[in-house]
Formats: sequence, structure tokens, C-alpha cells
Amino acid sequence: MMFLLAVLCVLYVWSPATLIGGQGSSTNIIPRKTVPINSSGGHYFHEEGVWNYTTMLLREDLNMLILGAREAIFALDLNNITVRKAMVNWKVKSQQQKECSLKGKDATNDCKNYIRILHKRDDNRMYVCGTNAFNPTCDYMSYANGELKLEEKQEDGKGKCPYDPFQRYASEMVDGELYSATSLNFLGSDPVMMRSTGEIIRTDYWFNEPNFVRMAYIPEGKSSPEGDDDKIYLFFSESAVEYDSYTKVDVSRVARVCKGDLGGLRTLQKKWTSFLKARLDCSFPNIKLPLLVQDVFQLCQDDSTTCIFYAVFTLQLDSSEYSAVCAYKIEDIKTVFSKSKFKTPVTVETSFVKWVMYSGELPDPRPGACIDNHAREKNINKSLDLPDKTLQFIKDKPLMDQAVKAIGQRPLLVKTGIAFTRIVVATATALNGNSHQVMFIGTKNGSVLKSVNYEGEMVIMEEIQLFEPSEPIKILRLSNTKKQLYVGSEVGVLQLSISECGRYHTCPDCVLGRDPYCGWDLNAGRCSTINSTHRTSTMIQSLSDGDTSRCPPIDGSKPVSTWFIHGNSVKLWCQPYSNLAQVHWKLNGQPIRLSDTIQILSDGLMILNASAEASGYYTCSSVEQKYEAQHVAYDLQMWSGFGTAALLHDVKEKENTLVAMVVILSLILATLVIWNLYKGHLLLPCCHSRVKDMPNRNIDERFSASQAQQYKVASPTVNLNSNNNYANDQRYSISREMDRLSTTVGSSGQISLRYMDDESEI
Ligand SMILES: *[C@@H]1O[C@H](CO)[C@@H](O)[C@H](O)[C@H]1NC(C)=O
Ligand SMILES: *[C@@H]1O[C@H](CO)[C@@H](O)[C@H](O)[C@H]1NC(C)=O
Ligand SMILES: *[C@@H]1O[C@H](CO)[C@@H](O)[C@H](O)[C@H]1NC(C)=O
Ligand SMILES: *[C@@H]1O[C@H](CO)[C@@H](O)[C@H](O)[C@H]1NC(C)=O
Ligand SMILES: *[C@@H]1O[C@H](CO)[C@@H](O)[C@H](O)[C@H]1NC(C)=O
Ligand SMILES: *[C@@H]1O[C@H](CO)[C@@H](O)[C@H](O)[C@H]1NC(C)=O
Repeated sequence: MMFLLAVLCVLYVWSPATLIGGQGSSTNIIPRKTVPINSSGGHYFHEEGVWNYTTMLLREDLNMLILGAREAIFALDLNNITVRKAMVNWKVKSQQQKECSLKGKDATNDCKNYIRILHKRDDNRMYVCGTNAFNPTCDYMSYANGELKLEEKQEDGKGKCPYDPFQRYASEMVDGELYSATSLNFLGSDPVMMRSTGEIIRTDYWFNEPNFVRMAYIPEGKSSPEGDDDKIYLFFSESAVEYDSYTKVDVSRVARVCKGDLGGLRTLQKKWTSFLKARLDCSFPNIKLPLLVQDVFQLCQDDSTTCIFYAVFTLQLDSSEYSAVCAYKIEDIKTVFSKSKFKTPVTVETSFVKWVMYSGELPDPRPGACIDNHAREKNINKSLDLPDKTLQFIKDKPLMDQAVKAIGQRPLLVKTGIAFTRIVVATATALNGNSHQVMFIGTKNGSVLKSVNYEGEMVIMEEIQLFEPSEPIKILRLSNTKKQLYVGSEVGVLQLSISECGRYHTCPDCVLGRDPYCGWDLNAGRCSTINSTHRTSTMIQSLSDGDTSRCPPIDGSKPVSTWFIHGNSVKLWCQPYSNLAQVHWKLNGQPIRLSDTIQILSDGLMILNASAEASGYYTCSSVEQKYEAQHVAYDLQMWSGFGTAALLHDVKEKENTLVAMVVILSLILATLVIWNLYKGHLLLPCCHSRVKDMPNRNIDERFSASQAQQYKVASPTVNLNSNNNYANDQRYSISREMDRLSTTVGSSGQISLRYMDDESEI
């Protein structure tokens, strides 16, 4: 009875309604800039008819990116992946394809060869494995004389490479030996982690419906005062055994084995004697279900004792997208494996088995420990010498009681509404010489978020849209020497620079961006990539608080003279470069009162059906963090010259051609007047585009005339700077508004608009 109550309590706590609460500002950090798909400026690679570009190997020694796809492997230039150096096909033999479809698999999708494993060997050749129509096979590959060559060795790939291309797996090549974690059988029901060169050493029944994510090799043996061994870590998620719950709950785990492990002599023959696993904790208040690890990046600075693992997590219910980044010190992981108590299975009630803390005596040497000085003192020189008591213990109880806690006991970043898929982390040296870790996070939506954590404060500098929405990012690779990012998806690969300082347009934009790679160059007057020759006297960077006080003032106070025709609409353009800026409009020094006819849009102010009261002095300013700037001012006046509007109205009513001629003549006269006005930097009413590009010249001097032209044509759905996705809906409503306007303002508006077009072509 008590047990049932406990179960009910647990189920209550885990019910979805209580999963997410307090979606405060900390969980919904908005990317400062949104870079749209066609402005990301990267190199794109896609081969006609080839899909699934999800396996990569960086060969910086050859200056190449080796890319594994479906039935093909490519060698691309690391500097420019659009340059294809070589390609080799690896197709499934028709006999194997037949067998695969006879076993009930989909011939057009499943029964293909998906390249899954690509590692560099010490002899410079590469080891390649593919699913090969549910018959995993491996081969050796070399690159010579501009050609990729497979040796057609047809090695058995079982346990190295998955059968099922949709199943996740992990692998690592260490000193010529392949470590892999995948399923050993066709059904996918026999998960193993194994070392497969020479004699195979594998896991016992220590996984529980796992989803393998990543492996990492930490060569800590050399520096270890305890004479400890190098280790291979495995990150995965699996069904939990430690909770009271009848519903399936998954947890994230980290496991490890020792590199020198040879298995046991009698117990655990040809099995790991050093396999230990622990729960990987990435918890956040309000989230009761464990988050599931999706990818891990290993960042080692100087030596392997200071490595940090950055991991992305998502919620295990698809219904609500919720993602987090947690970071773990290798020291903390090692401490759990070497100091924590173990868990042991106990049968609760009659059939339910739950794992609880084991508080009995531990055999000596400690179960799961690598062969270290302590073992050697006991005359145990290799795992084959380990006593049965130690081995039997680890065979039955490989799970640690303690969980591995994240640095700071909380996520570095939490975000709702988007699912993180992959992560890489680069180290940037700021102007003042400090190092900062820049996280590049791939998402299910096809974007990459670039973010930094400044002493607990999370900043997402950019959201770069790379693939069409809903094309998830499947692989991220970072080249520190090239400062490039390689992003793979099922449809193609993109190469991006890790710093794109040109995307910051003004000094405040550059400084408020808090991008450790970029600073405002006072001499050059632009946002530049920080390099070691730059000095703080000529560069402005303010990462901790985005302090713009050293920026040269932007003069947005000189008003742009603008006219409008009574009854027509005017749009006054003003757009900050940031999604985080708040825009304030004032009319004659007073905050603008919004109404049906005055609306603030994401990129400007729209005045519909303007009357005489709309005239006045308008200013647009923005506030971001503590920085406030006036971007532009307008002197808006109603145009009454020649009474053209009224005249044209008359023309239409009377349909008098003679009068029309007079009107045309007066329009020609007006052209000359307008031309003069234009030369004198004055503006005319009724043409939105002309009104628009003036303030942009004020905001950004470098914004060239040709861009302005393009911009004008594409308005109002394109904008040059931040392209705020969050404002898309609004922007669509502007276009609708414009459509409506051009159809309802009547003939006078129509004529003058056409007339303005002519003017712009002069
Ligand atoms: C990007 O450009 C390509 C070709 O130039 C075009 O087909 C595609 O629609 C554009 N995508 C977006 C989102 O504008
Ligand atoms: C390969 O790519 C195609 C096209 O995007 C996709 O439909 C298919 O699911 C992918 N296959 C695998 C195994 O991911
Ligand atoms: C990259 O290579 C393509 C040709 O494959 C070329 O058109 C392009 O200019 C190159 N880009 C750079 C930056 O070198
Ligand atoms: C372990 O190594 C030591 C020193 O190398 C040696 O004296 C000892 O006999 C070895 N023990 C076993 C069980 O092989
Ligand atoms: C990501 O995509 C999902 C659905 O495809 C959508 O609901 C969500 O708003 C998108 N998130 C962002 C930040 O674009
Ligand atoms: C540093 O940047 C400046 C311009 O911003 C450039 O002139 C100089 O060559 C760069 N130095 C190095 C070492 O890249």
C-alpha cells in the first residue's frame, strides 16, 4: 500500500503539467541577431542525388574534410567545401539488397549503405564502416594522387557500425583500436560497447535500451600520480532502473572503461572489468523528468586533467520543446567513479526491481577501478589478475549511486521552444587577453545558435538559419586552425566562419553584440575580428556589460525632411540591428500615442490616412541594455504644393483630356522642383522607399547605393540587418497593409507612385 502511494506521488510529480513552470527570462534568452538563411554567407556542398551528409572526419593534415553520406564518401577542401577534391562510391551489392528487403526492410531507404564510421588510422589510412543494407561492413580507405580509394576488404562491421541507419551510435579510434557502441544484432536488441581490434572485449548485459551519443578518449595515464590508466568515456541515455515508476523513464548516463582492460580470467572473460556507469545530471528547477543527452563536446585546454564536457540535453517528451546545455568537469566524473557508493538491484513487492544504494563492504581492489599503483602493490599487473570477488561485483552492479553534477549544479543555458541537437565549443581570446568559450549549438530547426556564458549571464549572439526550417542539424565539426565550422544535415553541408564581424553594422551594434571575436576598430571605422596586434586604444570591446560609451556618437538628430499627401499613408523607417532593442518613437518630444492610424512596426512607424495633425518632428530611438541612441529624426509635413491631389481628383471626375494635359505639364514642372529638392537632400511624400533609405544612410554610412536599390525593390519583406524572425508576422502584415493601401488610396496615389518610379530611374 505504501509502495502504491509512493508510485502515485512520483507519477503526480512527473505529470506533464508540472514539468515546466516559471518560463521566466532565464529560460527564454532571445538571440540578439537572427541571420536569415540567404545571408549566412557560408559555402554549401551538396552532390546531386546524394543525401544524408551526417558523418565527418577532419583531416587537417591533408587540408580536407572527409564527408560520409549515403553510398558515397567525399574529400572536400577544408578552406572551401564547394571544392570537391575526390569522391568514391560504396554501393550495396544487389544480393545484399535483396536479402535486406527479404528480411522486411524498406528497399529504397533502409537497404542502402549509410557511411557511419570514419576514423584516421596511425598509418594515415582511414577506417570506414557503413550500414551496407543491414549488414554492417568496414573497409580501409586512402587518399593518394587526388583519389579516394577503398581497399574492398569487406571486414565484418557487427558491433562497430549500426545495422539500422536510424539508430544512434558512438565510436572512437584510440591508438589504432576501434571502440564502438552500437547494437550487435539485426533486431537492434543487443547493445554493446566494445573494442574490436585484436581480441574483442565487450560489455556484459549492462545497458537498458540505450541510445548511444558520443565517446571521448581522455589520455590521463601519463600524468596520473596513482599510476592510473587512460580512459574511454561513453555518453548515452537509457531506461532508468533507479526510480519508482511503472512508466518508462529515461536517464542520461556517462560510462567509462580503461584502455588497458583485457577482461577477466574466469569471470568476465573477454568482457570489460572496468565498465562503470553513472547518471549524468542536468537539472533545472521545475523540470522533474530527467533531461536526455543528445550530444557532447570535449574541450581540453592544456592537459587532459582539465577537460570539460559540454553536453546538450532535451526533454524526453516531444510535446514541449525544452533544451539545455550543461558542462561537466572530467575531475567530477572521475571522482564519482572512484569514490561514490554503488547501486544494487532489490526486488520490491514481487516483480518490481529497483536499484538502491549498496552500503555493504566493497571488495579490494575497488570494483571497476583501472589497474593502478594500488593494484600493482597487490601484485595485480593486468585485469586478468583481478580477483573473482571484484569481478563478480562489477558484473552485477556497474551503476554508481551518485550522479555526476554539472558545473555550478545548473545548466549554462536553457531554452524553450527549440530542440538542441549538436554542440561544439571554441575558445576565443578577447581583446584583454581573457579566454571565453563560445558554444555553437545546432538545432532541430536547422539553425545554429552562437552563445557565450559571461560569469553566469548567458548571451546568445546570433541565431544563424542554415537549412530550411525543420531540417535538423545532424553533425557539427569545428576546425580550430581554420576557424571554420562544418555543419551537416540530411540534405547538405555548410561551412561557416566562427567569427563574422561584418554582421555588426555600427559601433554600438558591434559592442552590444558582446562577441568575443569582434571589436570596433576606431581607425577603420568597422567591426573587425580581434587579432593579437590589436590594442585596446584603437579597438572597443566590452564583453562583460556591452559598454558603448567609447563609441563615436551617431548623429541621428539632423531631421530628414519628409512630406505626405493628405489622406495618404507614410512609413517612417527605423530599425535597430538587434532583436533585444526596444524602439521608442516620439512626436514633438512626446511619446507617440498609438491609434488605429498610427502603428509601430518592427521596422518603422506607419501612419495611415495621414491628416494635418500627423505633421511634426518625429524621433526614433532605441534602448538596448543601458545604451540609448536616437537613430533618426523626421520633419514630417503635409504637402500642399500645386494642390495636385485635389486637381487629380478633379481630372478623374471630369475625364477631361485637356485638363489632364495641363496636369501632366504641371507634373513635369513638379519633376524639376522635386529634382532640386532631392539634390538639396529633401524628400518627397508618398514614396515609401525614398523615405526609407534615407535614415538607413544615417544609421549605416557603408550601406551602399546599390544595396539601397535592392532593398527598395524588395521592401517591405526584406530588411538588411537583424532580420527579426520574431517579427515576421508583423512584417507580413505590413505587406498586406501595403497591398491594401495601393489598392485603396485611389487614382491620385496611383499616379504619383508611378511617377515616382520614373523619377528614380532618371
Ligand atoms: C535563398 O536563395 C535561393 C536561391 O537564391 C532561393 O531559392 C531561396 O528561396 C532563398 N531562401 C530564402 C529563405 O529566401
Ligand atoms: C536520408 O535523407 C533523406 C532525405 O532528407 C531522408 O528522407 C532520410 O530519412 C534520411 N535517411 C536517414 C537514415 O537518415
Ligand atoms: C569556393 O569555390 C568555388 C568553386 O568551387 C568558387 O566559385 C568560390 O569563389 C570559392 N570561394 C572562395 C571564397 O574561395
Ligand atoms: C607484476 O609485476 C611485477 C613487477 O613487474 C612482478 O614482480 C610480478 O611478478 C608481477 N605479478 C604477476 C602476478 O604477474
Ligand atoms: C522551431 O520549429 C518548431 C516547429 O518546427 C516551431 O514551432 C518553433 O517555433 C521553431 N523555433 C524557432 C526558435 O524558430
Ligand atoms: C589585425 O587586423 C588588422 C586590421 O584590423 C590587420 O591590418 C592586421 O594585418 C591584422 N593582424 C594580423 C596578425 O592578422
